[in-house]
Amino acid sequence: MKRHILITGGAGFIGSHVVRRFVTRYPDYRIVNFDLLTYAGNLANLSDVEQAPNYTFVRGDICDAEAVGEVFRRYAIDGVIHLAAESHVDRSIRDPFTFARTNVLGTLTLLHAAREAWQGAWAGKRFYHISTDEVYGALGFGDEPFNEGTRYDPHSPYSASKASSDHFVRAFHDTYGLPTVVTNCSNNYGPYQFPEKLIPLLVNNIRLERPLPVYGRGENVRDWLHVEDHARAIDLIFHEGRNGETYNIGGGNEWRNIDLVRLIVRTTDRLLGRPEGASERLITYVTDRAGHDLRYAIDFSKLRRELGWEPAFRFEEGIEQTVRWYLENREWMERITSGEYEHYYEQMYGNR
Ligand code: NAD
Ligand code: DAU
Repeated sequence: MKRHILITGGAGFIGSHVVRRFVTRYPDYRIVNFDLLTYAGNLANLSDVEQAPNYTFVRGDICDAEAVGEVFRRYAIDGVIHLAAESHVDRSIRDPFTFARTNVLGTLTLLHAAREAWQGAWAGKRFYHISTDEVYGALGFGDEPFNEGTRYDPHSPYSASKASSDHFVRAFHDTYGLPTVVTNCSNNYGPYQFPEKLIPLLVNNIRLERPLPVYGRGENVRDWLHVEDHARAIDLIFHEGRNGETYNIGGGNEWRNIDLVRLIVRTTDRLLGRPEGASERLITYVTDRAGHDLRYAIDFSKLRRELGWEPAFRFEEGIEQTVRWYLENREWMERITSGEYEHYYEQMYGNR
C-alpha cells in the first residue's frame, strides 16, 4: 500500500463521502475509518464500500489515547484526515462539555498520537484538520466574506470548541513542526446528513406533513456547498496543500433560510407529486437559536488561486438530487429517526 490514512469520523455525514472517495479513487491506499459511532455515526452510510479490500473500520473514541496510539502503530498511519466531532450547534447549547471533550481533547489526543508515532520524521506525513467557517463568528449583511485572515470570533459552544481545536493544530505545527493543514468550510448539504440538520429535517417533515421549524424570522444567511464538492477539495488539499496553511472552502452560494426553506418545499412537493408550494402551510416560526449567527459567507479565492478548486454542483440541481435521495432512502431515514432521535426531536420542537 502506498499510503496508510486514518480518517476519523468516517461514519458521519461528510466523513462517509470522504471515505468513499478515497477508498474508490485510491485502491493502493489503506483507509482506516476510526469512529465511535455516536448517535451521528452510521455504518449504513458506507454499506457500498465496506467490503473493499483497502478499507478497515475501527470503532473507537478519539479521546482514548491508548486506542488512538494502537491504530497509529498497527496500521503504520502516515496521514490523518480528522473529521470526528460533535457537529450540531443546538446540541452544543444544551451540552457544551461533550463538545469540549470530543472537539478539543479528542483533537489534542490525535495530535499527540501523530507526534509520538512520527517522531520528527515528517517527510511524507500529513495531519489534516477539518474545521468550519463558524469559528469566524457572524457577518453583517454588507460585510465582506470571511477570508483566511479573518479574526476568530466564535459564538456558540460548538464554534468555540472548533476554534480551540484549530488553535491546537496550529500550535503543534508551530511548536513541534508537525505537518498540518486546516480547512474551514461553509454549510454542507447532500445525502447521508443526519436529520437534525436543516435540509434533511425539512424533507422528512414535509413528507410526514409535520411543522417546518424556522428559527427567528428566517433571515439568517448560510453559504451552501455540496458535500461531494467538499470531499473533492479535501482530496486536493490533502495531496497538494501546503503545510502550516489554512484554506477556506465555500460554495459562493448564500441563501436566506426562509428562501431555502421555500426552495426545499417546492422541490419536495414536486417530487412527491403534490402541488408545488402546498407544504408552505407547514412553515412554523419558532423561538430563535440562542446566539444565532446572522450570516456566514466564505471567500475561497486562495483555494481557487493556489489549487484551482471550484464548486462543481449547480445548487438547484444539487438540491434536487439531495431531496430525491432522502425520499428514495426512506428506510435509511426511518432507521435513524426512530428511538433516541425521536426523543431529541420532542425535546427540541415539542411532540408534534
Ligand atoms: P457528523 O455529526 O455527521 O459526524 C461526526 C462523526 O464523528 C460521527 O460519525 C460520529 O460517530 C463521530 N464521532 C463523534 N465523536 C467521536 C469520538 N469521540 N471519537 C470518534 N468518533 C466520533 O458531522 P459532519 O457534519 O459530517 O462534520 C464532520 C466534520 O466537518 C466536523 O469536524 C465538523 O465540525 C466539520 N464541518 C461540518 C460542516 C457541515 O456543514 N456539516 C461544515 C464545515 C465543517
Ligand atoms: O457553517 C458550517 C456549519 O454548518 C458546520 O460547522 C456545522 O457542523 C453544521 O451543523 C452547520 O451549522 P448550522 O447551524 O448553520 O446548520 P443547521 O443545519 O443546524 O442550521 C442551518 C440554518 O437553519 C441555521 O441558521 C439555523 C437554521 N435552522 C436550523 C434548524 C435545525 C432552522 O431555522 N430550523 C431548524 O430546525
